[in-house]
Amino acid sequence: MNSPSAPTADPSGAGASGAGASGAGASGPVGRALLPATAEIDSAGRLRVGGVDLVGLADEFGTPLFVYDESHLRARCREAVEAWGDGVAYATKAFLCVAMARLAYEEGMCLDVSTGGELHVALSAGVPAERLVLHGSNKSEEELTAALGVGVGRIVIDSFDEIDRLQRLLAASPVRPKVLARITPGVEVHTHEFVRTGQDDSKFGFGLTSGSAAQAVERLSELDARGVVEFVGIHAHLGSQVFALAPFARAVEVLADFFAPLGLPELVVGGGLGVAYVNGEEAPPMVQWASSVRRACSQAGIHDSVRVTAEPGRAIVATAGITLYRVGTIKDVAGHRIYVSVDGGMSDNPRPVLYGSGYEAFLPREAASARPMPIRLVGKHCESGDVVVAEGYVPDDLVVGDVLATPVTGAYGHSMASNYNKVPRPAVVFVADGEARTVVRRETLDDLVRLDV
Ligand code: LLP
Repeated sequence: MNSPSAPTADPSGAGASGAGASGAGASGPVGRALLPATAEIDSAGRLRVGGVDLVGLADEFGTPLFVYDESHLRARCREAVEAWGDGVAYATKAFLCVAMARLAYEEGMCLDVSTGGELHVALSAGVPAERLVLHGSNKSEEELTAALGVGVGRIVIDSFDEIDRLQRLLAASPVRPKVLARITPGVEVHTHEFVRTGQDDSKFGFGLTSGSAAQAVERLSELDARGVVEFVGIHAHLGSQVFALAPFARAVEVLADFFAPLGLPELVVGGGLGVAYVNGEEAPPMVQWASSVRRACSQAGIHDSVRVTAEPGRAIVATAGITLYRVGTIKDVAGHRIYVSVDGGMSDNPRPVLYGSGYEAFLPREAASARPMPIRLVGKHCESGDVVVAEGYVPDDLVVGDVLATPVTGAYGHSMASNYNKVPRPAVVFVADGEARTVVRRETLDDLVRLDV
């Protein structure tokens, strides 16, 4: 067994907004850094993850298939807990099912749930309510009631309407929830505008510059004094797929003058740590993210006793996941390009369509081979925009029937999957120690009509 080759340089810098894997180096093998931790190439050149052959997995479980390296997931959770300490929460929106919720809890993480649905899945997994943090920019009365009923660990308050709602619900209740106020610090990050959240012009939280944050703090302090809530901290989330650490430090600096005088015990800097999607990209390790935030905190005069934590989603699950597809057609459109069509597409990975995100494609049956053939990898949906990899490269012996893989699909793929064109959603398998287990079964055709009455 040998390891897949080291990443090749991609001077095109296909980055956070993901222009795709183009430019010199793009046609080398997929970089090791884009593959799950246990990935290895066997003597026949085939890729195994968790000791399991990927082509064999596709044969056994069908395609499209989400494959997660369980020990990679566990290691990332442990790394988060080591870097941030107790209280660090896994942002379940990145990928959630009962098995994932349980895994994150077992590895010592809290779980950030942002809807009643995510709350339900986490509770169904047996995660104790006190390990859950309820988020959401428009929490309904039902969601708040459910969260208060089970006793979630924290509620992150996002609006004055939510304070009103909570106050009403708690009027005749002995429950005294721990709450944080979500603040938008007015710090912009360089990522896709759809996933930027820390700037003033945002639907999220209370603006610092507008004075809303101060008003929210006033109201929550008053509710705390009356014993209605326990006001424990301030939360800020800047955005997602952020490669630079400076904006996080900048946010701490901006928040510090506001936060420090409040004397609150908790500060949460949100999620957002970026991950590499294509050859040549590099993202900072979790521990560096945490230490740079902590350094910024002490420089800004935030007391050591404050619990400073975060809520990573993508950085926990993205690289652990690979999607396996089956190639159905290869169409050489003369004078233009070669279209390779697979049996999934925008229904299992809407990120390229939504954000122009770049991915790599490779053949697990020859994972260390060069990929000299430029292609466009497309799905089976009825629209031209159904692109999985706009500018991909594959080995030139690719044939119909091949299992084709896209790495780094563990975050915001399954969780944003749809039934567009009534395509059943893929199964999810966890692989570890030579075994594969289904954690989410594939949808059936009957599932497609189960809600019709
Ligand atoms: N905390 C809060 C309050 C959030 O809103 C988010 C993500 C996270 C934590 C986790 O962020 P992460 O560590 O995963 O970057 N669908 C988009 C990403 C949307 C992120 C929304 N909020 C994508 O596929 O890129």
